[in-house]
Amino acid sequence: MCGIIAYAGTKGAKDMLIDGLEALEYRGYDSSGFYIAKEGSVKSVGRVANLREKAVKAKQGSTGIAHTRWATHGVPSEVNAHPHMGSQKRAYVVHNGIVENYQELKEGLKKSGVIFKSETDTEVIPQLIESYIEKGFDFHQAFLKTLGDIRGTYGLAVMDAFDNEKIYVARMGSPLIIGIADHGRFVASDNSPLARHAHSVVYLNDGDVAIITGNEHEIFSQKGERVLRGEEKMSADVARAEKGEYKHFMEKEIMEGARVVENAIRGRIEIDDGTVKLGGLESVADRLREIDRIIIVGCGTAYYAGLVGEYIIEEYAGVSVEVEIASEFRYRKPVLTPRTALLAVSQSGETADTLEAIREAKRKGILTLGIVNVVGSSIARETDAGIYNHAGPEIGVASTKAFISQVTVLALFAVFLGRQRSMSLVTGRRIGQELMLLPQKIESILSKRDELKKIALAYKDVRDMLVIGRKYNMPIAYEGALKVKEVSYIHAEGYGAGEMKHGPLAMIDEHFPTVAIAPKDSVYEKNISNIQEIRARKGKIFTIATEGDSVIGEVSNDVFYIPHTIEALTPILSVVPLQLFAYYIADAKGLDVDKPKNLAKSVTVE
Ligand code: F6R
Repeated sequence: MCGIIAYAGTKGAKDMLIDGLEALEYRGYDSSGFYIAKEGSVKSVGRVANLREKAVKAKQGSTGIAHTRWATHGVPSEVNAHPHMGSQKRAYVVHNGIVENYQELKEGLKKSGVIFKSETDTEVIPQLIESYIEKGFDFHQAFLKTLGDIRGTYGLAVMDAFDNEKIYVARMGSPLIIGIADHGRFVASDNSPLARHAHSVVYLNDGDVAIITGNEHEIFSQKGERVLRGEEKMSADVARAEKGEYKHFMEKEIMEGARVVENAIRGRIEIDDGTVKLGGLESVADRLREIDRIIIVGCGTAYYAGLVGEYIIEEYAGVSVEVEIASEFRYRKPVLTPRTALLAVSQSGETADTLEAIREAKRKGILTLGIVNVVGSSIARETDAGIYNHAGPEIGVASTKAFISQVTVLALFAVFLGRQRSMSLVTGRRIGQELMLLPQKIESILSKRDELKKIALAYKDVRDMLVIGRKYNMPIAYEGALKVKEVSYIHAEGYGAGEMKHGPLAMIDEHFPTVAIAPKDSVYEKNISNIQEIRARKGKIFTIATEGDSVIGEVSNDVFYIPHTIEALTPILSVVPLQLFAYYIADAKGLDVDKPKNLAKSVTVE
């Protein structure tokens, strides 16, 4: 949430900042703005494109800070857009995070005569810096004193209007990366804007403060002691994503489904031994042998992937699994034994709630693992060990290819754990073989996407819908409903099909359709009964079924057929038509599919 970028160097700062904001826009798009030394600031409501237009005549400059906002405190408006400055117009600040004690700080500053312009929590930061300068501190000291006063989370880039070269930076809970390019230095919330420029990166840790110029960076603790953080080569995975021939990133990313599975399994399946090789887990392989319980944490789509993981790991590895929404885990008192491991699933690797769950688990001394897509992200770095998805950048705010990859990696993890325990060679081989067949099966689904487009058009004007499934496909019902909700704004509820008669059936009539996921699996007959119960109440049914099923057409208004695979892997196939269904509805409604209202890609506030 919120993206920040700063640049000091010999290329035009304005272009570097605006291009960077475009790459970061998926983190928030309520407003954007920049401040460039000697040139001043420009702000605009809405998309970065508006800022670009407004700044056409602004000079390039060489050093500046910029921000794209996901509103937390205060409506999206120019006044609330960053950068925020103090009343003396000396301190300029861009901030990702939340100043939790801002009310208290604001009251104190107001009493000493400071007049606030915005409704944001951020504005207290430049005002505090200036209040310390007034008391005789230099800018650097004033910045450190301010950090000592604020409570909450922050990724901060700050400039002094009296200094055209330095950018002051601090990190606490919100990610910040220094990018080193031949023509200067960047600071950014993630490495997406750095891909085209930086040859190496330096990841800041919580508590780090840095001073950046075009030629150097120095990192300190908040007490002012020098800190050394190594430079890492810019990961090749961070190619800047382009939409190419597609209208939206969401469509492009769904169409990458087959490649995503290939990338997740590449070099990992050892078919002869019926096992998988997961390099990222080697260092903890012995500890994993002792584990008798896994708690999977994640948010939204990643949480639903975790739910599929629960079924797979329990069935194939015989290890007890609980799946928990990350924001709940940390506020409970979970019973954790030394033989419990926490597994965090996160595309971005920056989700604040998931990160905090990991920190809580670490405080309790248990093993922490991650399934993460973004290389070098906070979750990847803070967990004891983990598995990368290698799904490539996901830009559409609605997660699609990452989900496919997460479930694939969870299946690999189940085989890894299973083969450490009592899973047979034959079973290990069978899962490995089926995983290897998935890419071509996904391709066959994608090749029939026009069928889905037609079906989607028939459902696009409904107000509500249910999405139901059982066992392995119950989480897919949740995930399918989430996709419909977030991109098409249709109220969709995901339900376990067996739960229909315990309440939701009451809503069914001819205006309230249901999407049923009913592949040929061990709960197929039960699903058919549930579909019949809906039909008996005049409910319209769109079913996702297995190719060759000759019965399902008789009980459904619309059917989409997916290829057969083993039950545990059906979610990886059944989710694809649901993703396309949601996409086509949203597109037909003319909505901004990649940037649904009120959302942001990377949720770095709690
Ligand atoms: C939904 C969606 C979100 C994310 C959730 C977790 O389409 O994208 O629900 O899945 O915010 O994000 P990550 O996986 O980055 O931790």
